[in-house]
Amino acid sequence: MCGIVGYIGMQPAVPVLMAGLKSLEYRGYDSAGVSVCVSDEIYTVKAKGDLSHLEAKLKETALPEATLGIGHTRWATHGAPSDVNSHPHMGRKGIVALVHNGIIENYLELKAELMEKGCTFQSETDTEIVAQLFEYLYDGDMVGTLRKVLQRVHGAYALGIICKDHPDQLLAVRKDSPLLVGLGKEENFIASDIPALLSYTRDYYLLNDNEIVLLKRDGVSIFDLDGNPIEKEVFHVSWDASVAEKEGYDYFMMKEIMEQPRALQKTISPRILEGNINFEGIGLTEEMIASLRRIHIVACGSAWHAGIVGRYVLEKLTRIPVEVDIASEFRYRDPIFGENELCIVISQSGETADTLAALRLAKQAGVRILSIVNVVGSSIARESDDVIYTWAGPEIAVATTKGYTTQLSVLYMIALYFAKAKGLLRQEEEKMYLEELKLLPEKTSQVLHACNSGSIEALAKQLCKREDFFIIGRGIDYAAAMESSLKLKEISYIHSEAYAAGELKHGTISLIEEGTPVIAIATQSTLLEKLVSNIKEVKARGAYVIAITEEGNSFVADVADEVIYIPKATDLFTASYNVLPMQIFAYHVAVARGCNVDKPRNLAKSVTVE
Ligand code: F6R
Repeated sequence: MCGIVGYIGMQPAVPVLMAGLKSLEYRGYDSAGVSVCVSDEIYTVKAKGDLSHLEAKLKETALPEATLGIGHTRWATHGAPSDVNSHPHMGRKGIVALVHNGIIENYLELKAELMEKGCTFQSETDTEIVAQLFEYLYDGDMVGTLRKVLQRVHGAYALGIICKDHPDQLLAVRKDSPLLVGLGKEENFIASDIPALLSYTRDYYLLNDNEIVLLKRDGVSIFDLDGNPIEKEVFHVSWDASVAEKEGYDYFMMKEIMEQPRALQKTISPRILEGNINFEGIGLTEEMIASLRRIHIVACGSAWHAGIVGRYVLEKLTRIPVEVDIASEFRYRDPIFGENELCIVISQSGETADTLAALRLAKQAGVRILSIVNVVGSSIARESDDVIYTWAGPEIAVATTKGYTTQLSVLYMIALYFAKAKGLLRQEEEKMYLEELKLLPEKTSQVLHACNSGSIEALAKQLCKREDFFIIGRGIDYAAAMESSLKLKEISYIHSEAYAAGELKHGTISLIEEGTPVIAIATQSTLLEKLVSNIKEVKARGAYVIAITEEGNSFVADVADEVIYIPKATDLFTASYNVLPMQIFAYHVAVARGCNVDKPRNLAKSVTVE
């Protein structure tokens, strides 16, 4: 949510900033801007719209060649997308320019105070208050001034700051919003995420909250809020720059859908060793697991949907009661914690603000935290007692695909691991589940190839003008319906509702009329007959039914208009397969409707604000 870059070195800054912003555009794309500092002056260009608008404006208004600059791509929170609300923001005397990711919570109070002192404001943003405050408190020393500023601002922030008096310095700080420091040769960088650094360096520092960084061309110094120097460990990016490229696909989303078999392989295979699930390095002991009385799962969006599938699987295999909460609700509902409880936190980015806050709440109450995270070293990973990484690689498309399915695979492994620790898994059952897990990547690949053979694309073209869909299922299929519905909504802007199939007749069935598309997910063997009855109920009211079911369930074809088959699997793992045709269906519907698949309107990846 908002992308920040900053550069200080020997190269012309603008191309470096623009390339960095391009790779961070998934974090926000309603406006963008850059500022550079040269000859004791700051020059800024900003434009509403995605980066192409800024590119065009930069062609008209060429900036002087500079080797220091900051850039920003925005997801609006305070103030509509517009040129003036875009970052960087300046102080009134134009001494500093600043980019920000996060929210300054006490900005109204600070604004009133600064207005009393004669400051006037150009924009509606919370960010401009920080720029103005910086200038107001500025005493010639960048780090010292920032320390004073930070005593006054409350909220979440990653800031990049340049000052016309210090053309050899780039200043940054983070609190509750991500920021990395890239370490080059005679050049250094700040960025919200690794892809912005990859063309220049693979070495970086991960910043902790409240760490202030002063970057110069030939060195980086880090301080705490009292100004004491801090030593940091250098991390090294292990993945290749090409993973952040489209590699011939039209959109990252399709590339990432097709990457799922490999992502699952990387997530699962190192963890099945000699017929056992092995979570190397996790501190949860068998005794702790055996004494667990309750598990809380907290997450947002698709990660929350993964958690709902996880509840079915965990409760079935471990008999431990599981509560699944949306993180933004959990954190404000005064949740009840008890002895011997565990909180499983799920997040692809590891930076989602509400999920991080929910984690902190549970941790404060003394609950042990086990997180399932994709981004190594992210805030959620760092603040958890134990982390199990999904090795999905970077996910660039805003709509998650491989992030979600790898989260499911980790939840299955946790359930099996806990069930075994509790002595609840018979040997033959364990063997069967482990075999299924090992087959997950291969079977995922088969489903994806079958789905890409053209029939789903044709179905998408046939139905792309419809404005309402229902997606129904029971049990795990209902959880999968929620994720399927979100995929369709977020990228194609078609309204769709996921419904527990047995619940439709309690009101919502009144919305079904001639031709209403209903996608029925029918893979739970014990619930199949009941689901078939639910299909008949909607068919009787004119619905056009597309069923997703397992091979061999040919009788489903008798009640549905279209059938998509997925391979047979244990009931507990079917969510991993039935979501795949829906990812591909949503993708083709969005393409057919001319939507920007990777960057849907109003959205951004990594939601670092509440
Ligand atoms: C939907 C999607 C979002 C995220 C949610 C949580 O496709 O991507 O719903 O799942 O914003 O994000 P993470 O997993 O990064 O915490």
